[in-house]
Amino acid sequence: MNHGLDDVVVAETALSHVDGAAGRLIVRGHELEAIADRRFEALLALLWDGLTPRPWTEQAIRMALGVARLVAFGRLAPAIAATDRLSSVEALRLLLATLADVDTAPHHILAVAAVPVFAAAIARRRDGHAPIMPDARLGQAADFLRMLHGENAPAEHVRALETYLVTVADHGLNASTFTARVIASTRAGLLSSVVGALCALKGPLHGGAPGPVLDMLDAIGDFDNIRPWLEGALAHEERLMGFGHRVYRVRDPRADVLKATASALRGGSNRIRFAEAVEAEAIALLAQHRPGRRLDTNVEFYTALVLEALAIPRDNFTNVFAMGRVAGWTAHVLEQERIDRLIRPQSRYVGPAPRRPVAA
Ligand code: SDX
Repeated sequence: MNHGLDDVVVAETALSHVDGAAGRLIVRGHELEAIADRRFEALLALLWDGLTPRPWTEQAIRMALGVARLVAFGRLAPAIAATDRLSSVEALRLLLATLADVDTAPHHILAVAAVPVFAAAIARRRDGHAPIMPDARLGQAADFLRMLHGENAPAEHVRALETYLVTVADHGLNASTFTARVIASTRAGLLSSVVGALCALKGPLHGGAPGPVLDMLDAIGDFDNIRPWLEGALAHEERLMGFGHRVYRVRDPRADVLKATASALRGGSNRIRFAEAVEAEAIALLAQHRPGRRLDTNVEFYTALVLEALAIPRDNFTNVFAMGRVAGWTAHVLEQERIDRLIRPQSRYVGPAPRRPVAA
């Protein structure tokens, strides 16, 4: 039984292609490296092109997102107190669930706008601060950093976050995107599809890994302890966070984009040099650990260093991943809704046969 549906093709999409053998990511006909420096709103226009009832320009998206962030902010008060006993991603799950599928705003706009508003409010509440009202004049990345930190972020921080959001926006039929498409195929609605996708993203095998990457770096502590710590983890059959991938058989192309972004943010800081040393040792040890399986750096390793440099709280990393990936989720939902075919695969029954009724 192919439990992981490895290499099983279950959908056609014009949105993105992950070439695992060559280590390439193509988004709407563009190599990732060619669009990684675009504005997040421009990436949304690219992904949504032809999928919405009316065309959306980058400028129209930017304005609509600003208004929709204010709508989302208005939904916070009744629900945010219920998030205190939840993890940050569970808190986002709860707040997104307050958005009704019959909501008036265009759902793809509301879904994308709500994530940064809710993520910033969740992070601030954990620090004992009140949420900050969105500024509809700003772009999505700039307003998130302002709502999170309470002041306008430096331009290089906004650019770094935008590069991250664009880099992780869409990635073929990963677990959360597939989840979104299954839910959309039942005609449940875009916002319900996004809530389900976030639930899938939460797992450490998918989008829950960036925070644990920093936990690993902190646990290793210093250069002398890199090899002993990694050897110990592998000896206990632990997964090294930020390494390996179901599709890439070589280095994830996003790793180098984000490594450059982290290096630009942090200069020649010791943190980057230390992370590079951990990365090199991990790849070498993983090659010995699983000789037949190429386990290279995936998107999460340098994601952790970018988000740490932007002073985003570690337990909010998955929520920031969702800020980018919601672009892909919404585009795939819109694409799936045009197909309008219920996704319903078969299963092979291996349970007991019914007992024959005893003849009377
Ligand atoms: C992303 O699908 C996507 O596109 C995902 C993503 C996206 O943009 O949506 O790209 C996001 O890449 C997130 C990945 C974040 N998770 C981590 O970094 C956690 C660590 N990574 C692993 O758990 C693992 O590599 C996965 C989950 C990413 C991929 O798992 P697979 O494809 O199911 O690989 P596998 O479990 O079959 O591994 C093959 C072998 C196994 O050994 P055996 O059980 O066959 O003996 O390699 C081992 C694994 O134990 N292995 C690792 C490892 N990754 C795989 N061993 C140690 N450390 C690792 N990181």
